Amino acid sequence: MSSPILPEEPQGTLSGAIATRETSWSDKQERFRDRYGPWAIVTGASDGIGREFAICLAEAGIHVVLAARRGEVLEALAVALRRDHAVCTRVVAADLGTVAGVETLLDGVATLDVGLLVASAGFGTSGPFIDSPLAAELAMIDLNCRGVAALTHTLGSRFARRNRGGIVLMSSLVAFQGVARAANYAATKAYIQSLAEGLRLELLPLGVDVVASAPGPVHSGFAARASMTMSMAVPPRVVAQQTLESLGRTGTVRPGWLSKLLESALMSLPRRGRVRMMSQVMAGMTRRRSPVGMAGLRQEQQ
Ligand SMILES: NC(=O)c1ccc[n+]([C@@H]2O[C@H](COP(=O)([O-])OP(=O)(O)OC[C@H]3O[C@@H](n4cnc5c(N)ncnc54)[C@H](OP(=O)(O)O)[C@@H]3O)[C@@H](O)[C@H]2O)c1
Repeated sequence: MSSPILPEEPQGTLSGAIATRETSWSDKQERFRDRYGPWAIVTGASDGIGREFAICLAEAGIHVVLAARRGEVLEALAVALRRDHAVCTRVVAADLGTVAGVETLLDGVATLDVGLLVASAGFGTSGPFIDSPLAAELAMIDLNCRGVAALTHTLGSRFARRNRGGIVLMSSLVAFQGVARAANYAATKAYIQSLAEGLRLELLPLGVDVVASAPGPVHSGFAARASMTMSMAVPPRVVAQQTLESLGRTGTVRPGWLSKLLESALMSLPRRGRVRMMSQVMAGMTRRRSPVGMAGLRQEQQ
């Protein structure tokens, strides 16, 4: 096994660390590391699904770049990963919804041999679109779509040049149809789903695997930020594990039982029926919000 490339000394908002402890790897983890290592970038690593991705990757012996806005939370995770899993870490504190933030991250990984991008940073809004501040809706497009496009473009090119790598994009159960009360969020995830599907075929011959992960409700900070109430949510670890296991095997993974159940329930419906059903599911998650969207839904159903 080739020796890992070690990070440089800390610079600016970046910090690096070198781990030296001997660790033994299972065959599966070693194959994963050979294909997608030695370094992975995980955006949204300070919380929820991204945090679990970072832990799973460190468990597999992959060195991890942790990116999100809250640098101190990332630093604490980095310390734990180095201590528990003997991997190297680098922290990049950046707002990935801005051009400058994306550049900070790309500058921060320029000298690392990165083989995997996990783009998990994202957020949602809920309730009627026209009741939500426009700035929040546009910020969501900037983070969920523009930021992901920029990272995927630059890192996809790097991976293609080295004929090896992987890209994980966070789609959602809502990505496959319009959803009332999450209209713009669902649209951002439709963009991600579509990007991943097309990109997968473009990059496959170049040795780069792409997977879209489309979970249903997940226990994380997401629901609180989106003002939603989620029942039947799966732990973020389930999403991270099932997604990483699917990389290189399929183009779309639906982690968690609810996501799989709803997929089969929705499959036979025409698109209009899927829009209605998913809008009813979303109405149940946003019941405490203003009833404007519910009225719209009722009219649609009549
Ligand atoms: N939770 C669900 O039910 C669910 C279901 C389907 C898909 N997803 C998708 O899964 C992904 C992860 O969601 P989650 O459940 O893990 O949410 P979460 O617990 O709220 O975590 C979101 C992560 O994104 C980071 N982030 C937010 N805004 C950012 C910004 N402007 N710049 C950089 N980082 C930013 C947050 O860190 P900072 O606050 O430190 O920046 C945090 O680490 C999202 O793309 C989401 O759409 C979630």
